[in-house]
Amino acid sequence: MTDRVVYFNGEFIAEMEARISIFDCALMYGDMVFEMTRSFKQQPYRLRDHLQRLYASLDYVQIDCGLSIDQMEAATRATIERNLPALEEYDFQIMHDVTRGGLGLYDTIIKEGTAPIVSINVLPLVRHTGAMADKYQGGAHFVITPQQSVPARYIDPKAKNRSRVYYKIADLQAAQLEPGAMALLTDEHGFVTEGTGNNFFMVRDGQILTPKGHDILRGVSRQACMELARNQGIDVIEADISPYDARAADEIWFTSTTICMIPVTRFNFRPVGDGQPGPVYTQLLHAWSEAVGVDIAAQAAEYARLAPNWKP
Ligand SMILES: Cc1ncc(COP(=O)(O)O)c(C=O)c1O
Repeated sequence: MTDRVVYFNGEFIAEMEARISIFDCALMYGDMVFEMTRSFKQQPYRLRDHLQRLYASLDYVQIDCGLSIDQMEAATRATIERNLPALEEYDFQIMHDVTRGGLGLYDTIIKEGTAPIVSINVLPLVRHTGAMADKYQGGAHFVITPQQSVPARYIDPKAKNRSRVYYKIADLQAAQLEPGAMALLTDEHGFVTEGTGNNFFMVRDGQILTPKGHDILRGVSRQACMELARNQGIDVIEADISPYDARAADEIWFTSTTICMIPVTRFNFRPVGDGQPGPVYTQLLHAWSEAVGVDIAAQAAEYARLAPNWKP
């Protein structure tokens, strides 16, 4: 039993007691949306951007969660406040989950009823970020998977939803190609879209390229990374990127909330550039760390050191 509490439809309940019915639409259809935010120095980072994306996702799937965005922000801050003693000194992730609620057909046997369920939980990043710590120096290996992205006209990936079995299949395929490799998806034309939980960046001739925003989740850290680069005077272009072009990249990295940015030093079994994290990556990670007042890679390394003995 942990001391953490979860915001659950307006109440705070013990984390281990927070659960939904097996008849909830989330389980029946993957019919729900979510968000993942992180803190730096225990302050939520770009919370409003995450909440705006959450409300855009809710609008897309037509769920009225019953809270205004301001109320959601207040509930989020209250959840953090309530949990601060249990979070000790760690930075943490903040997860928002909104399900459509119980399926009407089963209404008499669902304790929570059939209205949408909003839950907000926080968890130290010790394990999550710690697990990626060695990649800041060693880099990741991206492989293009046979599983492709779902085009926006079917299910729009801009909405952060949990109908994600195709991401899972891509992860399995990547692991089958090489244990530890990470999946990189393409669209129906073969252009790079995104990873299964991250956005793609590459550098060619001093210019940063990232896939256009139509068939991807438009990451909050993607946006942060583009802003940091432009502030450093580096051009960023949203482009159609083929695996052929990615193969010739000087640098590749990916962005995601919990890890910010991780270098990709191998692409489809070949080294990227000289096989080391590149200068543009290094410059931007440094700028990001400066901006948030936390050495991002060093924090991950510290969490990796603590993780084996840390009990969630
Ligand atoms: C499919 C997908 N793409 C991109 C991202 C990166 O988004 P963000 O930077 O907002 O974490 C995520 C994050 O989970 C994701 O699931």
